[in-house]
Amino acid sequence: MKRIYIETYGCQMNVADSELMLGVLGREGYVRADDPAEADVMLVNTCAVRDNAEQRVIGRMGELQRHKRPGDVLGVVGCMAQRLGPALLERVPRVDLVVGPDGYRNLAELIGLAAQGQRTADTSFRTWEHYEDVPPVRETGPTAFVTVQRGCDYRCTFCIVPHTRGPERSRRLGDVVREVQSLAALGTSEVTLLGQTVNSYHDGDHDFADLLRSVGGVDGIRRIRFTSPYPTEFTARVIEAMATTPAVCEHVHLPVQSGSDAVLRRMLRRYTRGRYLAVVAALREAVPGITFSTDIIVGFPGETEAQFQETLSLVTEADLDDAYTFKYSVREGTPAVRLKDHVPDNVASERLDRLIETVRAQARRKNIARVGQTHEVLVERPARRGGLMLGRTRTNHLVLLDLPPTAAGEYHTCRLTGTTGSTFTGAVVTPTLAVL
Ligand code: SAH
Ligand code: F3S
Repeated sequence: MKRIYIETYGCQMNVADSELMLGVLGREGYVRADDPAEADVMLVNTCAVRDNAEQRVIGRMGELQRHKRPGDVLGVVGCMAQRLGPALLERVPRVDLVVGPDGYRNLAELIGLAAQGQRTADTSFRTWEHYEDVPPVRETGPTAFVTVQRGCDYRCTFCIVPHTRGPERSRRLGDVVREVQSLAALGTSEVTLLGQTVNSYHDGDHDFADLLRSVGGVDGIRRIRFTSPYPTEFTARVIEAMATTPAVCEHVHLPVQSGSDAVLRRMLRRYTRGRYLAVVAALREAVPGITFSTDIIVGFPGETEAQFQETLSLVTEADLDDAYTFKYSVREGTPAVRLKDHVPDNVASERLDRLIETVRAQARRKNIARVGQTHEVLVERPARRGGLMLGRTRTNHLVLLDLPPTAAGEYHTCRLTGTTGSTFTGAVVTPTLAVL
């Protein structure tokens, strides 16, 4: 019996891909190890979106290789593996295996070769690859990620993802629905549909609106989330499907990147500030109570103070609830490398601080106003502190509840009793049992 240890960095799609790899290797008799010291194979599933994510992995590889015994295999998989390919084998001498996101089907074979001392890199794109026949090995719980689209056909000038994940492709709607049905049968009631521009989903016959309706029609599915949509892919059909599919949650993560038209143009984002605001307004009108989070990059090449100010004012004008904020990171091979006027690091850092301050203050103000409201909460898991349980509202707010661990998976109507500014404490108003 071989033992496999996987460590996952980056986005939700990497989490889903790690579950897939456990599926691929599980078929070959591998079992999961929680401790690298006990594993025969160690894999690090990596992110390449920003340099600091890659540096962290390089550091971690140094630690993991200490656990390597003769015959053990240390592999790098995911986006950084795809980006660096064979060069990674040279750079980190004790790495035996480098496999990109389209190569996981061959993992067992490549691991076998590596164990015999043959170091390999597989970074071919296989545009047909959906791993349709590989059931992911998940920890079954109330919530699950379901990949519906792989790759990306957009060409945002800052972004390495099209280089690491290849061209866009969508799974067949019927295959997604079957997977969701099997999850529901195991007790999962919330699914998050994953894709790089998930609302451009199209399988040749069905669009994202069809997908939302079909997944929403699966018995036992009470909540649907999706990430990340692209602002201009919210067609009238998609918005209509969101509004009329009860399971679709009242929250959208809608990456904006910048509030300045000039910066958006240089990023090759295919919308203006005005268009973004119009999409937010249309979603607010169609889906009452909807909340928004976003992704923002500061210090993109050529960003002036005035253009940065437009990002600050967008956060306020769009009345966003939360934001993931990043300092621009140069990615070799992306078009933005060639842009002029790179912003000095200290200027970008200072802008990032101001942006975080604006986002925090706004979130805090909006969340304080929510105290006293009543929300449906899905209890997800034990919280880290205080013997409490952690749940989530449909609007994607985290709520700490005084419930036993056995409450995981239950839906409760809760009153929000307090907030730290970002998360809430709550009290159960009427217990309702999970409908499964
Ligand atoms: N389409 C994907 C984007 C993946 S990258 C999605 O929306 O999930 C996730 C986020 O990382 C992007 O939205 C962007 O804000 C940030 N990002 C991507 N490339 C970056 C770079 N070179 N520097 C800083 N942040 C970046
Ligand atoms: Fe990256 Fe833009 Fe696609 S952010 S993943 S190129 S939509």
